[in-house]
Amino acid sequence: MRYHIGLATTFHDPAIAIVGPDGTPLFAEATERYLQYKRAPNCEPDSGPRMGSLLKEHLPAGAEVAIATSWGEDFTRFLAESARAGAYEFSALSALSPDFNRSLVPERAERALVGSLHVAQARAGYGTILGLDRAFGRANVPGGLRRYGHHLTHAAYAAFASPFADATVLVVDGMGETGASAVFAYEGGQLRELRRNRGRESIGFYFGLVTDLAGFDQLKGEEWKIMGLAPYGRRDPDLLALLRRMYRIENGKLAFADEATIREACRAILARRPDNATDVGWADLSRCGQDVFEEMMDVYLDQARTLGSSRNLVVAGGCALNSSFNGKIAARGGFDAVFVPSAPADDGNALGAAWLSYAADNPGWRPDVEAAARGPLTPYLGSRVSTEPLERMTAWEPRLRRLGEGVVEETARLLAEGKLVGWVQGRAEFGPRALGNRSILADPRPADAKDILNAKVKYREAFRPFAPSILAEEAADWFEDYQDSPYMERTLVWRKDRRALVPAVVHEDATGRLQSVTADRNPRYHALISAFRDITGVPVVLNTSFNVMGKPILHTAEDAILMFYTTGLDAIVVEDWLLAK
Ligand SMILES: [Fe+2]
Repeated sequence: MRYHIGLATTFHDPAIAIVGPDGTPLFAEATERYLQYKRAPNCEPDSGPRMGSLLKEHLPAGAEVAIATSWGEDFTRFLAESARAGAYEFSALSALSPDFNRSLVPERAERALVGSLHVAQARAGYGTILGLDRAFGRANVPGGLRRYGHHLTHAAYAAFASPFADATVLVVDGMGETGASAVFAYEGGQLRELRRNRGRESIGFYFGLVTDLAGFDQLKGEEWKIMGLAPYGRRDPDLLALLRRMYRIENGKLAFADEATIREACRAILARRPDNATDVGWADLSRCGQDVFEEMMDVYLDQARTLGSSRNLVVAGGCALNSSFNGKIAARGGFDAVFVPSAPADDGNALGAAWLSYAADNPGWRPDVEAAARGPLTPYLGSRVSTEPLERMTAWEPRLRRLGEGVVEETARLLAEGKLVGWVQGRAEFGPRALGNRSILADPRPADAKDILNAKVKYREAFRPFAPSILAEEAADWFEDYQDSPYMERTLVWRKDRRALVPAVVHEDATGRLQSVTADRNPRYHALISAFRDITGVPVVLNTSFNVMGKPILHTAEDAILMFYTTGLDAIVVEDWLLAK
């Protein structure tokens, strides 16, 4: 009975996953949730204090364990060489640091950084072994520590989670061991590398650079904001020309310009930056930056089309978080279906590594193709919340009620009345999106719902859109060229005649980053939206993650209770419990 613990060990977005003896994912969650520290930069994924109870919850006494991580041996070499050279090439940005007030990193500090970076990788596994000791009195790790190539772990997670028996897998991210993108063939449960694009050409780093140039901060993971702000910007030919100076296409590959040219282009872009960019962001650069991102992605899409033989496309890596682009892939042709997993960035690699480890011990294993055909992997693989804090509160909080199944109807009624409801159910989502288990919900019909939500709870920039959850069976009536979007992974265009009905979730460019909700995937959430539809005629709710600005999605009932008392939320629902103002 061997269990496989997968650890995502990048210095941002570490995560842990557990795959059981039959290949089923038992648990997967980003470490930021437990730590309540957004993106958990430079933290080990399996923190010692946590592991004992987590392993006891999912593993039987005496279970054997293998531990797998998400970086190959090359990565250790890279770190050692970087440390020796004193060069910290995390991104093109560091080379440009004199131009940025946010990244004035003196050389000595850079050298020190290299020494302390990647704690996640260096300490991966210690917490698990400590946890095994604590849970069972004996660490039983005959499977040892296994390491898998970074892009292979991206590809394995995405392919095994997909609804496809065969696929072409495109990985595009910040940086792997030897480059930033790769193409794999997925056939018969096996992954075969078709192309590895070696070198420093990184669309992820490019987009990070645009994020900083536009007045945001990539180290905080603010790449999202470029997508949100882009529709407000104009296509400035000069900005486009400057961005395009940074790369060219050579033999079907991206070739970045030399450092001096990129630096020069950045200077010229910064010289045009409006004074208020760091306050409100720079819309024109966001527009142009997103456009050039898409041009670069098209180069790799072409590679996938040319090299792969499957008509199914799987996209993974951090760049697969670009929902605007994801929504446009199908229309670009060459593929019949496009799948993007719920956690395409480095957190997903925890499950990729665990699955690769499982497959290594079980040759010939492949995911259950029939089950996959019924739908992609559930995103609800994270922690549950205990309702015990609510039970204790009944002694002194008269507004608290336990409603059982009735909580669905009651919540639908509150939403239809325009109330803001924090909604916590079942297991947490794996990946960055709240998909109806850790969500704040609102009525999408009032035009000012977005402003109210921002003023009372979320405190986000006004340009950032809120997303819709929609009943999948009605979605084709609401979106043009509808595609299934189980994880809010793609942005589609609202039908013209529907836009005025749900203004709070229609973005400036008439799009919405939708979640397609089915009764199969999330019965209670589906029932809630259905009940809301029965009252209002609209099969859509506004769904945003249950957190406050700058914090990760909440992790415990206490977090929800705290938000109830300290924000403008009108009600919280935790499992069957309702607490309303
Ligand atoms: Fe990655």
